Amino acid sequence: MAEHPDIRIGIIGIGNMGTAHSKSIQGGKVPGLKLTAIADREEKNRDKISDVKKFTEGSDLIQSGEIDAVLIATPHYSHTTLGIEALEKGLHVLVEKPISVHKEDCEKLISAYSGNSDQIFAAMFNQRTDFRYNKAREMIQSGELGKIHRLNWIITDWFRTENYYQSGGWRATWGGEGGGVLLNQCPHQLDLWQWLFGMPKRVTAQVQIGRFHDIEVEDSVTAMLEYDSGVQGVFITTTGEAPGVNRLEIVGDQGRLEISGEDTLKYFRNEVTSSKHLAEAKTGFSKPGCWDVTIPTKGKGEQHVGILKNFVGAIRGTEKLIAPAIEGIHSVELANAMLLSGFTQKTVDLPIDSAVYAAELKTRIENSTFQKKTVETTETGDFSQSF
Ligand SMILES: NC(=O)c1ccc[n+]([C@@H]2O[C@H](COP(=O)([O-])OP(=O)(O)OC[C@H]3O[C@@H](n4cnc5c(N)ncnc54)[C@H](O)[C@@H]3O)[C@@H](O)[C@H]2O)c1
Repeated sequence: MAEHPDIRIGIIGIGNMGTAHSKSIQGGKVPGLKLTAIADREEKNRDKISDVKKFTEGSDLIQSGEIDAVLIATPHYSHTTLGIEALEKGLHVLVEKPISVHKEDCEKLISAYSGNSDQIFAAMFNQRTDFRYNKAREMIQSGELGKIHRLNWIITDWFRTENYYQSGGWRATWGGEGGGVLLNQCPHQLDLWQWLFGMPKRVTAQVQIGRFHDIEVEDSVTAMLEYDSGVQGVFITTTGEAPGVNRLEIVGDQGRLEISGEDTLKYFRNEVTSSKHLAEAKTGFSKPGCWDVTIPTKGKGEQHVGILKNFVGAIRGTEKLIAPAIEGIHSVELANAMLLSGFTQKTVDLPIDSAVYAAELKTRIENSTFQKKTVETTETGDFSQSF
């Protein structure tokens, strides 16, 4: 059987995340993928990578003819512009999360995609490779949990210091990053939320701007997500509390599933469904009998490397995409809806009007008087571990 030639990939943005992706590819962790070129506006970042063609501008890399595929790991707004250019050039595209800052930009980006099966357009939603969330999804879809009643996700272990926010010029500003914890850290959980439960019909949120940090965007959010079925979900996040927790609880008629451990799910399984017991019990205070079940999983999975391997498989036509980029519009819409609800102090119906949110964001950017301090960071950690 003929060997496949290596897929030539270029990475735009050799900052924290792009460096980690480069190391994975050059370290041989993604068979079939060869890093042939990179682009970064900063010389010190270009200098980090050897044995590749180097460009200053992402656009020049896209137009270079040196690559079959591109990974975009730049600040958020440029995901849209670089993504459109790369898609129109006919490249396979893997874009970091969030796919764009706001829904209107997502629509523009997605409309540049041919939709042809010979062009692959994926997003770096690495947490979709996590076996714990895959198991939960299987249990929802198979009906094991019964009808879903309630959802709770408290994700407060995204702790970030003032130094983190002040270290990069684009971070934590409306004009540079387009938001705070909802746009940078939580795209993963918002994507998993819609992947597990679908999109809600209404969102009501309180967003706190710069509650813990000297920033102009949100660093603390409490949101309620409502579905027509009556399901209510609560989503709580912040980058300002320690110790934080990452606990997802899914309450179904058959019991409650909790994901907070490293490689197990806790399932409190009712012997009879809660609705049956509620209707048929002959006493007022009894509860259904309940089993305490520990479900082992293989843990967090391959994460970023898993998405890169799957990108190769999808380009070769041997694998279904784990995270099609077109699905990335949903997590952006959830983030936009929470912010819009927080700004207006009103419940927001979904789908949101993308032009309304884009106009709101534009006003915030135009009215911004925020002066950012810029500090040196001593960051040397492995950024791929920061998911
Ligand atoms: N999937 C994950 O787990 C994960 C983790 C961290 C960050 N991210 C995402 O990765 C992206 C980058 O984040 P980061 O923390 O690495 O940022 P960063 O600031 O460390 O790096 C961004 C780099 O892009 C370069 N750049 C910007 N525009 C460019 C252009 N047009 N052409 C060439 N180079 C350009 C900058 O010079 C900079 O070096 C963001 O979307 C972020 O949300 C994802």
